[in-house]
Amino acid sequence: MRTRDYPGRFIVIEGADGAGTTTQSKQLADELDAHWTYEPSGNKIGKFVDTMISGDDFSPEAIALGFAADRMAHLEEEILPRLEKGRTVVCDRYYHSSFVYQPILGADRTWVEELNKHALVPDQTVILDIAAEEGMERVSERGHDGNIFEDLSFQQKVVIQYQELVEDLEEDITLVDASQPIDAVFADIIERIEK
Ligand code: TYD
Repeated sequence: MRTRDYPGRFIVIEGADGAGTTTQSKQLADELDAHWTYEPSGNKIGKFVDTMISGDDFSPEAIALGFAADRMAHLEEEILPRLEKGRTVVCDRYYHSSFVYQPILGADRTWVEELNKHALVPDQTVILDIAAEEGMERVSERGHDGNIFEDLSFQQKVVIQYQELVEDLEEDITLVDASQPIDAVFADIIERIEK
C-alpha cells in the first residue's frame, strides 16, 4: 500500500453499524479544523455503491470492487489533494470496512486486501468498539439505512472482525469503547489521536 509522502494528516474512524462513526468523525473534524469526508463517498461511484448495497442484485465480489473503485476515486479527487496542501482529513469509514464487511458477505479476504493495496495507509485509525446488540438498537432509534448489513448476526461478526483487525494490521490502529456516552468516547478518541 502507498504510505505517506504529504504534509497533511489522514485520520480514519471505523466501527460496526450504530457505533457512532459519523457523529464522532464529524466532531473530530470540527475539533481539528479538518476536512470531513466519508465512504461510500458522495461521488458518482459512491452513490452507485449505495444502491448496490440496498438489495441482493450484486455478488460480494462486485460489491467489493465497487467499494474499492469508489475509494481510489475518493482518494484521488478529494483526499490526496487536501493532504498534499497540508490539511488534516478525517474519513468516516475506509478500507477497514472492506476488510471486515466484504469477507463476512462472502468475498475472499486476501483478494479484498489486494484490491485495496494502492490505497493510502491512514496515519491513524480509531475503531469504535460496541456490542452488536447495542449498535443495532441505536440503528433502530435513528432509523435504518436499509442496507444489507443491518442484521444482528452479521453485525456480531463485524464487531469480532474489527477487534481482530487491530491485532492483524501493521499500522497505527486502536480500539475505543464506544458504549460510553458521546462525550466520553470523544475524549478517548482525542487522547488516542494526540498520543
Ligand atoms: P454508511 O452509509 O456509512 O453506514 P453507517 O451510517 O451505518 O456508517 O455505510 C454503509 C454501509 O456500508 C455500512 O454498513 C458499512 C458498509 N461498508 C462496507 O461494507 N464496505 C466498505 O468498504 C465501506 C466503506 C462501507
